Amino acid sequence: MAGAPGTGKTALALGIAQELGPKVPFCPMVGSEVYSSEVKKTEVLMEHFRRAIGLRIKESKEVYEGEVTEITPEETENPLGGYGRTISHVVIGLKTTKGSKQLRLDPSIYEALQKEKVNIGDVIYIEASSGAVKRVGRSDAFASEFDLEADEYVPVPKGDVHKKKEIVQDVTLHDLDMSNAKPQGGQDLMSMVGQLSKPKKTEVTEKLRTEINKVVNRYIDQGIAELVPGVLFIDEVHMLDIECFTYLNRALESTLSPIVIFATNRGVCTIRGTDVMSPHGIPVDLLDRMLIIRTMPYSLEEIVQIISIRAETESIQLDAEALHGMGEIGARTSLRYTVQMLTPARIIAETAGRDSIKLSDVEEVDELFYDAKSSAKVLAASEGYLL
Ligand SMILES: Nc1ncnc2c1ncn2[C@@H]1O[C@H](COP(=O)(O)OP(=O)(O)OP(=O)(O)O)[C@@H](O)[C@H]1O
Ligand SMILES: [Mg+2]
Repeated sequence: MAGAPGTGKTALALGIAQELGPKVPFCPMVGSEVYSSEVKKTEVLMEHFRRAIGLRIKESKEVYEGEVTEITPEETENPLGGYGRTISHVVIGLKTTKGSKQLRLDPSIYEALQKEKVNIGDVIYIEASSGAVKRVGRSDAFASEFDLEADEYVPVPKGDVHKKKEIVQDVTLHDLDMSNAKPQGGQDLMSMVGQLSKPKKTEVTEKLRTEINKVVNRYIDQGIAELVPGVLFIDEVHMLDIECFTYLNRALESTLSPIVIFATNRGVCTIRGTDVMSPHGIPVDLLDRMLIIRTMPYSLEEIVQIISIRAETESIQLDAEALHGMGEIGARTSLRYTVQMLTPARIIAETAGRDSIKLSDVEEVDELFYDAKSSAKVLAASEGYLL
């Protein structure tokens, strides 16, 4: 996406992320993020690439599932003779529509229950093999208790407490890299996924990534996992240098590549790290691999619409006249400038004891502040006024 400042490139990226929803990875970054003193530029790029590639893993697991009817930690004297008492096991009652079951479980599960903030009346499942606890939601038997709850209500599970359940998990390749940077388990996908909750570790090497790719590809072939290509958004892409661009050329062509969106407001300028001029500061061979979308300045009506949405989200009230006035100022100056005017205009209106912004408030704000263009004009007209 190429276009003048304030034409909505970054705003579009936010919009895309919203539309994709939580299941499709969206990884935003700014070109200058690659310049870190500790990590190689290409390493930063690669990491973001892998954050943008998702994997949906379906597996059938043996679980205990139901509504929690009881959580009782049972304590014993500390066998080492200390003062404290330790939890020897925990008793959990689970109920489904078909029956109920009492389980005596390892104390580590008690910790997992506390971490997931499981209470009586929640629907949970516990994986039989790993002991991982997952809170599904609150049982809808409790739904009418309070109205103001952000909780998700789920029906009491059907079938037996102990059963096989199809579990779908969404992870990114980066999650797998990180959780396996210090491999403890086996080299298959399920144990890689199992590492997700374990504490963190060492560096992610190219070798590890190749290993993970191999396993992932095998599981995709077997139909257990499904690739969910996401979106990598690189804002201010002209900040990248020639090394990064060369690297991108190659990365874009690999099979495990997300959709990559670049945004820039530069015209013809030098490519960083060279003295070659190129459109958008991007090498022509990389440009050749893209579709370029031109973003245009907003029209007066569009500016008015954006300001009214903005005002509504910030609960600022505006007269129709004031709104139109702001639109005109926006068309003359910039969208960002007018959006910034909203708050001062509201303060002026409030000071005058009104709830709603009038045209005169907007004009007053416009007199008090300068936008970039008029400031430049003042500077040019009064030489020597500022250093
Ligand atoms: N469609 C839109 N809806 C709501 N707000 C918008 C929209 N487009 C732009 N804006 C707002 O306008 C301002 C400028 O837009 P944005 O930051 O996307 O510009 P940009 O094209 O990324 O500019 P730059 O090249 O300077 O980075 C932001 O405050 C943004 O929230
Ligand atoms: Mg931007």
